[in-house]
Amino acid sequence: MHINGKAFRTIWFDEKDQAVKIIDQTKLPHKFEVKNLKTVKDTINAIKTMEVRGAPLIGATAAYGIVLAIMESNDPEFIKISRENLIKSRPTAINLKWAVNRMLKKLSGVNNNALEEAKSICEEDVKFCENIGLNGLKIIEEIHNKKKDTVNILTHCNAGWLATIDWGTATSPIYHAHRKGIKVHVWVDETRPRNQGASLTSYELNEEGVPNTIIADNAGGILMQRGEVDMCIVGTDRTIATGDVANKIGTYLKALAAKDNNVPFYVALPSSTIDWETHDLKNIPIEERNSEELSHVEGLDENNKLKKILIYPKKSKAMNIAFDVTPAKYVTGLITEKGVCEASTDGLKKLFK
Ligand code: MRU
Repeated sequence: MHINGKAFRTIWFDEKDQAVKIIDQTKLPHKFEVKNLKTVKDTINAIKTMEVRGAPLIGATAAYGIVLAIMESNDPEFIKISRENLIKSRPTAINLKWAVNRMLKKLSGVNNNALEEAKSICEEDVKFCENIGLNGLKIIEEIHNKKKDTVNILTHCNAGWLATIDWGTATSPIYHAHRKGIKVHVWVDETRPRNQGASLTSYELNEEGVPNTIIADNAGGILMQRGEVDMCIVGTDRTIATGDVANKIGTYLKALAAKDNNVPFYVALPSSTIDWETHDLKNIPIEERNSEELSHVEGLDENNKLKKILIYPKKSKAMNIAFDVTPAKYVTGLITEKGVCEASTDGLKKLFK
């Protein structure tokens, strides 16, 4: 996808610098900065501080983390500790564990080229996200054929190309529809507390020329009641074997509002986000982040300088739960690289096993 008309991916390996390059997402939308990661510690730090975020991208970053660990030391103990620290760096997105384990499996084989494997994780993600787009496009086309007018799509957080390697998950059907000439408009949930919707989703849609409007997180309900949302598409950090979906805090409430208003609620995901081992939504680890993300906001000041300010009473306590779980019964369908299926064990198995 494009930034200032130039095609980018979110992560790549630079042979000349012998470094992993990332777009520092903590600076967006105000500054576009590419950053070098040279050690496994750098990758862990980038994931923890959310310079990279979004389930598929943190998986890919962790894969490159293993590459950098190997470049630093051949000591099996160091690789083992690196693996554990990478998996712990963010708890909810299953892609982290998936990617690190895939890397280590490769390393134990005959053809154990770690860099090639990290690159192929990225290539595969691009292909899967593209296919998610083609599968989701059919749903948008159907709505458009009936409505014969602009399709209004609500999304939450950033499940765009910035959260993956390219295309995005939730945004891929939107980009495909837009490129096909179907009129789409996106309601972008601001997504407090870190505002990934406003700072990242709206930013990347603008760069691709897709019409969008940022709304307060609580505005989706009334828009649905007024018939101004034709469908919701969100991403996910972990979809368990039952089809229940963990995603950014606030997703569940959007799904409830969608159900009450008969608005189709789709979740887009690559198979690397399926956690086949978990069968009870209560067992999904839910990340809790620093409450400073709630109490402080960052933006440009009158001198165009980035500034962080406190917006809460100094004495107030705050709690920052980063994810919630939407039970499968509220999900109209899962849009995957292999097709669209029911959010259920049977639905998932029909496509993947
Ligand atoms: O905390 P974040 O920004 O990593 O959360 C991201 C999301 O919740 C995305 O919707 C999810 O990772 C899907 S990414 C394609």
